[in-house]
Amino acid sequence: MTPGKRKNDEKNQMKSIIRKAADDRTLKKIVLSRPADKTVKKLSASLFEKNGSLFMQLETIRSDGKAVHENIPAGEADAYIEGMFKSGYGQADIITTGGSCTALLSSSGKIHIKNNIKPAAGIAVRQHDAEKRYILADESAHDFLYLLDISDQKGRVFDKKRAKYRQINRFLELVDDVYDKLPPGKLTVCDLCCGKSYLTFAVYWYLTFKRDRAVDMYGVDLKSDMIAGSSAFAEKLGYSGMHFICGDAFGFVTPSKPALVISLHACDTATDIVLAGAVKQEADVILSTPCCHHELSGQIDSPPLAFITDSPILRQKLCDAATDALRMLRLRCEGYDVTAIELVDPDETPKNVLLRAVRRKNGPVDAALPEAYRTACRFLGADPALGRLLGD
Ligand SMILES: C[S@@+](CC[C@H](N)C(=O)[O-])C[C@H]1O[C@@H](n2cnc3c(N)ncnc32)[C@H](O)[C@@H]1O
Repeated sequence: MTPGKRKNDEKNQMKSIIRKAADDRTLKKIVLSRPADKTVKKLSASLFEKNGSLFMQLETIRSDGKAVHENIPAGEADAYIEGMFKSGYGQADIITTGGSCTALLSSSGKIHIKNNIKPAAGIAVRQHDAEKRYILADESAHDFLYLLDISDQKGRVFDKKRAKYRQINRFLELVDDVYDKLPPGKLTVCDLCCGKSYLTFAVYWYLTFKRDRAVDMYGVDLKSDMIAGSSAFAEKLGYSGMHFICGDAFGFVTPSKPALVISLHACDTATDIVLAGAVKQEADVILSTPCCHHELSGQIDSPPLAFITDSPILRQKLCDAATDALRMLRLRCEGYDVTAIELVDPDETPKNVLLRAVRRKNGPVDAALPEAYRTACRFLGADPALGRLLGD
């Protein structure tokens, strides 16, 4: 072996890759999968900083859904994780801000590494959960978090609910960001397609207890069991401003003009029902995280884009982005300032775009917008649900 090749092999060792990503603080996550021990599902590891020192948190997810956590100094993580990998897993994915690297363990015990990590473009170290100041960490949130089975009575979040906790907390941060766009007086808020109503309770709690506002909150969903459960929880908590309605979000109208319409993962065109309903009622602010995007995939007919749409995977990615971009444009035509925001860490869920629309108080709507929207639709061969619902 030439010295150059040996040096290159050395550089590609799993341990060195982990060490470099940890030292550079570009490591987002390491996932060990295909375990030999079938009582284990996977192990994931990520860096966090505590009191100025860097640690690696290891989370082993067991087949029964339970999670076991262990924190080790970041300096020991490379050897430790490589050892774990060699002794019990078939695959390791090292994900950094500069790309990812996959290591596969062959049956003969050889490690094959495919390294696509480029010089990275940003650090990825998170603060430890205990240190990050979550809006939901407030003691007054414990009651509803406990009833919704997110935490125990003392507010300690259950391992399997951490992702949900982070998601609704992040949503509250986004409500906080637009708080000054909400009107004075009693607030009417609705969560359309509310499902189990995690978000409905969180936003009601935030506005009522953290912002001291009088709120009428409406949660609407087609599923009667969930609506009945949420109504019972609201009563138990004494959240008297919460109202749950079993029914179609289509045509749902609040008794007074909504200040805020929220929606998290309303499937496919249910998101368009939410957006159209909010626009028709002139909601001041809309925060909506779309879910699966199927409609456009069945419509798109654009020869210039065939080089993308001929590949089913890329066709879907294009349709996901185009659907939300058309929604943004259509909302702008209605006088909203619209932004697309990342909701949580994209590693946690692919359904991660949040559309934030704030109704403009003054100034004319740009007259070129409707034509820009129609041109985009013609180019894609699209007839989007949001446009149809708004009477196009
Ligand atoms: C993926 S779930 C999301 C639930 C909840 N927002 C969450 O994030 O936990 C989608 C929900 O939308 C509801 N849904 C779908 N179409 C609806 C419609 N037209 N009217 C009311 N609810 C609807 C379903 O019953 C389901 O509970």
